[in-house]
Amino acid sequence: MTESAALHPDILRVLITQDELRVRIREMGRQISRDYAGRPLTLVSILKGSVLFLSDLMREIDIDCTIDFMCLSSYEGKASTGVVRMLLDLRESAEGRDLLVVEDIIDTGLTLSYLMQNLKTRKPASLEICTLLDKPECRKVKVAAKYVGFPIPNEFVVGYGLDYKEQYRNLPYVGVLKESAAK
Ligand code: IMP
Repeated sequence: MTESAALHPDILRVLITQDELRVRIREMGRQISRDYAGRPLTLVSILKGSVLFLSDLMREIDIDCTIDFMCLSSYEGKASTGVVRMLLDLRESAEGRDLLVVEDIIDTGLTLSYLMQNLKTRKPASLEICTLLDKPECRKVKVAAKYVGFPIPNEFVVGYGLDYKEQYRNLPYVGVLKESAAK
């Protein structure tokens, strides 16, 4: 964490600092730029959790690309309901484009499994996942992400776009939420 960002009182500890985020996202952007050079790349940001990640990642991508958004919901508080609902769909056609789904975190995998099945039917040229965080221990269905920022342990985290009941998205780091705050 940089000196300017004080620790929020509901945060038990910082898991990933601002500096660590910056460095890793720069690496990911460079890798994506190399892998997709000369291809019609669309970054598909999954709202709302991935907005900070998207905005930093896209600035580290130095090839032409477009962005689009989807909004899915499967969480209530700290637990996945297992039922995925699509609240917002893509604005542009996915056909023939190289789609890279930009997600904040993969937990059970249920959200992305549903999404990937849905997007595959739209005949993209390719379809891959880029996630900032991955909790591999929690997986219920297999989901393969091409790009993973940080594998993390099975703890509920907030900040840098991730929320608990819509709070904490604006924290500039990823932190573990105190049990006492998760009510
Ligand atoms: P999955 O369907 O269980 O993989 O869950 C994916 C979604 O659950 C993510 O896009 C987040 O919105 C939410 N989620 C999972 N784990 C966490 C967490 O530790 N903190 C905040 N949100 C989480």
